[in-house]
Amino acid sequence: MIAISNLSKSYKTASGVFKALNKLDLTIEKGDIYGIIGFSGAGKSTLVRCMNRLEEPDEGTVAIGDTVITELEGKRLREARQKIGMIFQQFNLLDGKTAFQNVAFPLRVAGRDKTFIRKRVTEVLEMVQLSDKAGHYPSQLSGGQKQRVGIARALVNEPDVLLCDEATSALDPQTTYSILELLQSINQQLGLTVVLITHELEVLQHICNNVAVIEQGEIVETGTVDQFFLNPQSDTARRFVNIVERYRQKRKLAVEGVGAGI
Ligand SMILES: Nc1ncnc2c1ncn2[C@@H]1O[C@H](COP(=O)(O)OP(=O)(O)OP(=O)(O)O)[C@@H](O)[C@H]1O
Ligand SMILES: [Mg+2]
Repeated sequence: MIAISNLSKSYKTASGVFKALNKLDLTIEKGDIYGIIGFSGAGKSTLVRCMNRLEEPDEGTVAIGDTVITELEGKRLREARQKIGMIFQQFNLLDGKTAFQNVAFPLRVAGRDKTFIRKRVTEVLEMVQLSDKAGHYPSQLSGGQKQRVGIARALVNEPDVLLCDEATSALDPQTTYSILELLQSINQQLGLTVVLITHELEVLQHICNNVAVIEQGEIVETGTVDQFFLNPQSDTARRFVNIVERYRQKRKLAVEGVGAGI
């Protein structure tokens, strides 16, 4: 289980202090595929970056299982981070390294020996169906393949949690679909908890079980994905669902118009 309690984060800007997270509370059950949705600037990336301490929260706690991430320092923090995989919208691969070397990187940092690294990297590249691209550099890979390398790198240390920050936003719908299918099968095979930050409703609809809605650094609604679509409570949720509904209506009218010869 991931338990986030009273989490706050402010940024100092030229025009003053900006509160990106405001006493945020959130609980995510182990093994879930949990969506976090919100408009641009709502605090999604800040939240996910505070979860693995890429960003330092001002106050509050983040616990993953029995480990209170916000209490750790130095070696113990580095070890805990190995159990939190993360994938990004822009993939964040090392351009000068091959797919194999990118995936091997966290294992090298963790001080694993060569034989172990070869075996484990081969295993995860197989899992993301990229065995044939092991020797390719990022510039020789498509967006979807780059994200598969990103996923393999995130999984190589056998994490308990996979954090995905807009992981499919840079991909076309077909590739998005295949990456979501991959994340779902990884979740089922490995039983790890997946946290998906998104502003795409299709992503929620496709693989998430539960969802939290974030608005100005606060969670304003949580529940199942079905509840979100059928009975949205918060302003943000209603706006999201209405936008999609309006689009559907417009398309429907356009198609009916074509049918009626208009
Ligand atoms: N390093 C920073 N310095 C100052 N302000 C920041 C910094 N990082 C984020 N912010 C501000 O904090 C707020 C939340 O940012 P965050 O990146 O978490 O939003 P987001 O929900 O991920 O948005 P998007 O959907 O556009 O990625 C924004 O208003 C942003 O401008
Ligand atoms: Mg973001």
